[in-house]
Formats: sequence, structure tokens, C-alpha cells
Amino acid sequence: MKAWLSKLNIDLSAAPSSPEELARTVLASVSPDFRCRIETVPALEESFRIRNDPDGSFTVSGGGTGVLYGAFALIRSVFSGKELPDSLESAPRYPLRMINCWDNMDGSVERGYSGSSLFFEAGAFHYDPLRMRELGCFMASVGLNVLCINNVNVHFPAQLLLEDYLPEAAALADLFRPFGVRLMFSVDFSQPMRHGIPTADPLDPAVQSWWNETAARVYRAIPDLAGFLVKADSEGRPGPFTYGRNHADGANMLARAVAPYGGKIVWRCFVYNCRQDWRDTKTDRPMAAWEHYSPLDGQFADNVILQVKHGPFDFQVREPLSPLLLGMKHTNLAMELQLAQEYTGHQIDIYTMIPMWKELFDELPEDHIMSVAAVSNLGRDDNYTGHPLAAVNFFTYGLLAWNPQTDAADAVTEWIRLTYHFAPEDERALASLLLSSRRTYEKYTAPLGIGWMVSPHDHYGPNPSGYEYDLWGTYHKANRDAVGIDRTASGTGYLLQYPEAYQHKYADPETCPDLYLLFYHRLPYSFRMKDGRTLIQRIYDDHFEGYEETKAMAEILRSLPFPEPDRNVILSRMDRQLYDAKEWCDIINTFFRRLSGADDTHGRTIYD
Ligand code: GCU
Repeated sequence: MKAWLSKLNIDLSAAPSSPEELARTVLASVSPDFRCRIETVPALEESFRIRNDPDGSFTVSGGGTGVLYGAFALIRSVFSGKELPDSLESAPRYPLRMINCWDNMDGSVERGYSGSSLFFEAGAFHYDPLRMRELGCFMASVGLNVLCINNVNVHFPAQLLLEDYLPEAAALADLFRPFGVRLMFSVDFSQPMRHGIPTADPLDPAVQSWWNETAARVYRAIPDLAGFLVKADSEGRPGPFTYGRNHADGANMLARAVAPYGGKIVWRCFVYNCRQDWRDTKTDRPMAAWEHYSPLDGQFADNVILQVKHGPFDFQVREPLSPLLLGMKHTNLAMELQLAQEYTGHQIDIYTMIPMWKELFDELPEDHIMSVAAVSNLGRDDNYTGHPLAAVNFFTYGLLAWNPQTDAADAVTEWIRLTYHFAPEDERALASLLLSSRRTYEKYTAPLGIGWMVSPHDHYGPNPSGYEYDLWGTYHKANRDAVGIDRTASGTGYLLQYPEAYQHKYADPETCPDLYLLFYHRLPYSFRMKDGRTLIQRIYDDHFEGYEETKAMAEILRSLPFPEPDRNVILSRMDRQLYDAKEWCDIINTFFRRLSGADDTHGRTIYD
């Protein structure tokens, strides 16, 4: 992450006083003969214009934060050698472009793979102001503007809302403000009960007053706080269901408390039965969010945003777009992505997400999606992301959140150029490796949309039966004849939650795209795929191919001139990825061979 801040030579030893001042510093870093004027046009707000004048100088115009985003866009182009048109105008597609940190106040990070928390330690704020400014700079450089600093699972005593913590929270907000970054806090729905109120019922006047007073106190300390993020009635977290209320009752109560200050309530939709009986064939977990929220469409206050994970399960390597993102037409929505590689290799395996995100953004309807959020992949490791190449996910997420039309290969190449000094052929080799890394990971882990073959709890490494008899509703039901779940009208009916055109695309296994086949269908191993292979042969082939591709990836990485300390970390993690890719390949293929008894037509080794 830091490589390109040092390349840009931006002095962060002192705090900038405003986005404009930072914009000037950023532009001054280019070179003494680089001429650029700044013009603040408040009406432009976050947008900017860059004019390349005939005398070779530039003019960047924008609102308060717009000039900052313009300055960064300009120097990103200069340093990555991109041609700029004579004039360029740019406005963010989504007003809230958020990073959600899952940091706990004890200093741990839930699903964190880059060291401990950047903000907390031992129950208190504990941070390095310089690193905060660096983080502000990373965010501003790619247009990200909201930082939620604490875990959605608010573990007591993470009471950022309390008087004791507010001065420090306000000091942190001050640090981020010149970078155009506003803070957000995750809150616990039952928090009033820790303050002498016997209930957290959203319709109870005492509860409402507690939240109103709390919001007033918090906004006195941090007037530009972006709002509160809430995980309610989800995986054991408290919520309105306890009181027989629905999620509009809960979210709107909080929304009224923050509305006078322009705050938002970002309410997560990750609600499902996490105590399912595996024998129960009626309940299909991906259906849950739609069942809970679609009846409430149109009932949420204007300052509520429902934050929906991109797929109906939980950040698997391949999931269809959540039906809520397509169907909740009268509700403000945010799509939630996960930079932290929880199910996608723990920042040990290389997994570049932008090809996956492009598929999602391409399907999103234009109108009612107002925000994007991504679970952070950052931590206290020196390089911020654990794996140096995982930084590409943070960087490209920002570019897409600003402009979802951004081309994946361009974005990845830009990151490489800002991070390393590579010859063009090395740059191309790394770009192509990164862009294909998701497909490779998918092949050796859980291809064809099957998902969930991962070890339970820590979510790293293969365990094909690990979740089969568990409570979490994540089953593939492989037996000796067939695998997958029928989610069409003849099965659980999940597919019926989608618009008709979408249903047509996936309903028939003969025409359903292969990559989603076992998400939507239960099929015998002898099923003929479109290319003539049997399903079981395709399962074997994908796993073998994934492993072979990983070996090729390792060769390429060894040949690239990464500087230290990156090289050492990249190559040692690659060794682990190689080992694990082989484990995945052999364990999953053996699992299916033992069940199906089918031989590999190519006679490769599968264990009996
Ligand atoms: C996943 C993850 C949890 C997290 C949850 C969420 O289930 O494993 O650690 O709390 O998602 O998004 O709330």
C-alpha cells in the first residue's frame, strides 16, 4: 500500500488542514516544473474537472473534496503514464463509498489477515497518527469517503457512543477530515439496556429518547459523523425481532435519532436462520434475506440504507447477485463487498477481486443503489494488507466505487505502475496473473457454484463435509448419485425471487451458465455439460486445472523483480498457496471419487 505514497513523495508528517491544502501538497509532489492550478468551485462538491491547457499546465476544479479527488486522479495518471484528454469531468457514481472495519476494541480484527487493529488496543483507542494519515491518503487517492472503524459485531464494551470515548473518537475524526473521510460507528441495537433501560424495543419511548439523546451527544462531538452501521437479528446479535417488531421499525427509530444531523442508518440485511437443522429440507438459507426484507420495501426512512451482501450466502467465490439488489425498488440500498479474504484465501492465496466485482456491477440496476461498502482488508502489518498483492483489492475497489465502468485490466495495471517499477513485459505478466487469480482459486476450491467446501470456523483450507451436518444452512448434499441443491421452481423456489428474465437464464440446467450450475441445480454425476464432458469429469478437471494454474503462477512470481520485503512475503505465501491448492485438489477430487466411484478419464491420481 505504501509503495506509491512514497513514490508520490507526499509529506504526511504534518496534518493537512483541509482537502484543498492536501490537494496542493499532492500536486506539488509531482516535480518542480509540473504546473497545475487549483480552482475551488463549491457547487461541484465531490466532482472535479481537469483541464489540460495548451501551455502544458493543468487546472483542477472541484468542490471541497472534489479538488482533492481531482488532484489524485491527475497524479495517478501522471505516475502511471496514462494519457489524459484535454478536459476530463468526473463525478462519483455512489455518494457513500465505504470501508467497514471489523475491528474490536481489544485490538483483534474479526476475519482480519493483516495483523491487529489499526485503531484499538486493550479496550481503548490506540493508533499511530501518521498511519491514520496514510490511511486517509489511501482512501482519498481512490475516492473512498466513509470509514466505519469498529466491528459490526459490537462486543461489549465497544461503546464508542459513550462520553468516555467520544473525545478520542472526535480526535480521530479530525485526523481523517482533511482527507474527505467521515467516520461511522457500528452500534449494538440493545445498547440502551446497558444504561438502565429494561428493553430495546424500538417503539418504547424510553428507548427512543435514549437513542435521541445519544445521537445528540455523539453529533455534538463529531458533527459530520456519517452515521451508524447496524447488524441486528443476525447471527445472534440483538434486534427488533425480540420485541415482535420488524426491521423497518428498528431502522426508522434510529434514523429519526440521527436525521437532525444529516446522519444515515446503514442497516445490514445479513439475516438468516443460523441454527438450522441440516435434516430440514424446507429452509434454504439464500432465500432468507428476501423473505425478511422484500415485504418492507418502501417502508424505510429516507436516511436508512439497507446494506446487502453481494450474494445471498456469504462472500463465496461465486454467488449470484442478491435478489434484494435487483428487487427492492423503493428502498435505498448499498452493496456490501468483502476485501478481507475470509473465504478466498486469507491473504495467503492470491485473489484479485475486480473481475468478480465487474460481473456484479454490470448486473446492478442504475437507480436505487446509492452506496457501496467493503469489509476492510487492512491491519497493523507494516504493509497494511498482509500480502502485498492484496493491496490491489483496496485500490481497485475505490476506483470501481467511484466509477463502476472502470476497466478491470486498466485498474490493475494502474495499481502495478504505482506500486512497482516493472518493465512492460513484467507488468503485463503480473496483470494477467492477478486478473486470472480468482478463476484459478475458484477452480481448485469450489467450482460450478457449489461453495462451502471450506473448513468450518476459520474458513481456510478444504473440508468438503465440514458444513454438511452443521447449523449454518450451507449444504451441498453430495451423495453417491448427485450433488447440488435444486433452487428452481421445482426445488426450493429461490430462483423465483428474481425478475423473470433472470429466472429464464438459470432455470434449465441445459442452458444455465456452468459457473452457477450447482448453485441452482441438483444433478447426477453423469450429467452432460455443454462441452460434452460429464459433471464428475468437469469437477475433476477444474480441480486439476486450478492446481496446474497455481504452479504456473508460482513460476511467474519467481521470475518477477519484486523488491524486498515484498518479494520474500510474496514467495513464501505462494509456497503456502501451492501446498493448499494441492490439498484442495486432492481432497475434493478424492471426496467425489469415493462417493461416485467414477474414474478420471485422463487417469490422473485420485486417491481411493
Ligand atoms: C460472516 C463472518 C462473520 C461475520 C458475518 C457478518 O458470517 O464469518 O465473522 O460477522 O459474516 O458479515 O456479519
